[in-house]
Amino acid sequence: MNRNPAHASAERPCTFSAVVPAAGRGERMGQRKALLKLAGRPMLLHTLERLMAARGCTEVVIAVHPDDLECFTSEWADRLRKEFRVSAIVPGGEYRQQSVLAALEATRAEADLILIHDAARPLVQPQLIEQVAARAAQTGAAIAAVPSVATVKEVNADGRILSTPPRESLWLAQTPQGFRRELILRAHRRAQDEGFLGTDDALLVERMGVPVVIVEDSAENLKITTPADLVVAEVILKRQQDAGAARSR
Ligand code: CTP
Ligand code: MG
Repeated sequence: MNRNPAHASAERPCTFSAVVPAAGRGERMGQRKALLKLAGRPMLLHTLERLMAARGCTEVVIAVHPDDLECFTSEWADRLRKEFRVSAIVPGGEYRQQSVLAALEATRAEADLILIHDAARPLVQPQLIEQVAARAAQTGAAIAAVPSVATVKEVNADGRILSTPPRESLWLAQTPQGFRRELILRAHRRAQDEGFLGTDDALLVERMGVPVVIVEDSAENLKITTPADLVVAEVILKRQQDAGAARSR
């Protein structure tokens, strides 16, 4: 099965609004992450740069922690608007799902396609963003995922293994996750009404019985969660920059 159709990014790019949840508390990092520096620049700026390097991003709506809002002075917000097409900065909620919904509601009603991408994944490749957008435009819902390199056990409360799903069928969900706007808004509003909290956005669509497809991503698009991830991310970033410099020589 070809999960990344070659034509997906080669043709006319699909336009989309990006939603960037950046409102977490960063408990495992020991501090909030959005403005935490990666190679000397706030992580959020790296993530926004990647979105701008992809073709088709028409606007970005960011959800930030209420305590970070004051950092987004009108001067900064103005720069974000001009350089990164940031159309709104909204306060996030206690859970990621609430932050995403708040940002979704602030996207342009005319947008057909939404790409949700964690601020904590600043190493995403622009080409992958385009591929997810293209697949989501074709199918309605597509997410980045990597094949599991681990054997995963389902275990009960007593620590007894219940099942070992075949590894070939296991994929780890990442972001970006792309959806038709009407679909993802409906899925989020329904989850909110029903008090359902999911661990990613795709799950909210899956539970409505709507198919979601995957686009194969790289493990390099890691989510920076712990201090150790930050060290790994700097190494990956350096490698990506060297590879980019080599290509443009
Ligand atoms: N996020 C958010 N609103 C929340 C929680 C998370 O917008 N209430 C965002 C984070 O800012 C991050 C992404 O969702 O970009 C993925 O979350 P995660 O990596 O878990 O970040 P945190 O929730 O900040 O970290 P932790 O779980 O360790 O507290
Ligand atoms: Mg979290």
